[in-house]
Amino acid sequence: MAQIFPPVADTCVKLAGIAVAVLVVGGLMVAGGAVRSDWLTRVGVAPDQPVPFSHKHHAGELGIDCRYCHDDVERSASAGFPPTKTCMTCHSQLWTNAEALAPVRSSFTTGEPLAWNRVHDLPDYVYFNHSIHVAHGVGCVECHGRIDRMNRVAKVHALYMSWCLDCHRDPAPHLRPPERVFDLDWQPPADARALGSELVARFGIEPANLDSCYVCHR
Ligand code: HEC
Ligand code: HEC
Ligand code: HEC
Ligand code: HEC
Ligand code: HEC
Repeated sequence: MAQIFPPVADTCVKLAGIAVAVLVVGGLMVAGGAVRSDWLTRVGVAPDQPVPFSHKHHAGELGIDCRYCHDDVERSASAGFPPTKTCMTCHSQLWTNAEALAPVRSSFTTGEPLAWNRVHDLPDYVYFNHSIHVAHGVGCVECHGRIDRMNRVAKVHALYMSWCLDCHRDPAPHLRPPERVFDLDWQPPADARALGSELVARFGIEPANLDSCYVCHR
């Protein structure tokens, strides 16, 4: 009996099938990759801000301590943003006519706070607390990177649950003496783990309990 389709058509059907399969798998890989990509997690992407405030300039070059502007960080869950009057302690005398600072002056006059756009923003169902990390020797640089070298702040970690858990299950190598928490230049000693283990004992940190769901989901 004569074939309705020549053998070459059969090959075409097979190739088309393979092409569809490749497209589907490839599409899934792209979708999966996109979920974890820097574009979606906004790692390294600095949002626009109402004023071009530079940490490199203020915290790095001028050497202003983090607590001058984020003074809640040692006491409360939130590090907070500085009120406009903190800027005006200097900018009522310095750069008083600069265009870049016009929103700061008008905020000071009207009392309307500057609307900073958040760089780090955990979902509402996650509980986070700065003060306990700061008190027990987790430096700002561990989670935020070299803020003092950034003209515009961007995230250096995606803030996935796995990132929190990696440290919670074994915090020792990430700890420093609490008086070094704000010192972004601090380097760990050759035996970082020995120091870390000493700090874990000193603060009574219990890594075995720190990965329980209720620690972060309350
Ligand atoms: C002179 C004031 C000032 C000083 C000093 C300062 N900051 Fe800030 N910080 C700000 C302002 C204003 C913002 C909001 C605008 C921005 O994101 O750049 C901010 C934002 C941030 C953010 C991003 C917050 C978010 O939206 O998620 C981090 C992290 C941060 N600061 C850490 C630090 C650290 C660490 C230091 C010390 C090395 C420091 N800051 C010193 C004023 C300051
Ligand atoms: C301790 C003093 C001090 C404080 C507090 C301060 N600044 Fe400044 N700021 C300066 C100095 C000094 C300059 C640099 C002037 C120059 O370049 O000669 C400056 C420059 C700036 C500039 C110009 C762009 C740049 O970075 O070179 C902006 C914008 C600015 N500051 C915003 C702010 C904001 C917003 C705050 C509050 C969150 C703030 N500053 C708090 C001292 C301060
Ligand atoms: C263990 C990691 C960790 C450490 C250490 C840490 N931060 Fe944060 N920081 C975060 C996370 C996570 C957020 C986002 C919190 C949220 O969305 O509720 C954040 C948010 C912020 C914000 C935005 C305002 C706020 O409170 O949400 C500022 C400012 C800030 N951090 C400054 C600092 C400074 C200054 C230090 C050092 C004293 C520091 N952080 C240490 C993880 C950390
Ligand atoms: C670099 C290390 C590190 C990272 C990253 C980190 N933590 Fe922690 N976390 C600690 C340490 C150390 C403690 C203190 C534990 C203690 O003293 O018992 C702590 C304590 C906490 C506590 C308080 C626990 C209690 O008993 O009250 C919460 C809540 C918490 N972390 C949430 C988070 C969340 C959410 C993230 C991620 C967004 C995170 N942490 C990332 C090291 C870290
Ligand atoms: C150290 C803090 C921490 C602990 C402990 C923790 N989580 Fe989370 N969890 C987070 C953070 C941060 C996120 C948000 C992740 C994101 O935005 O991608 C999250 C997100 C989630 C989500 C949302 C889906 C997802 O994966 O993003 C679920 C479900 C969840 N956690 C369940 C749990 C369970 C169950 C446990 C206990 C076995 C647990 N978590 C322990 C920090 C924690």
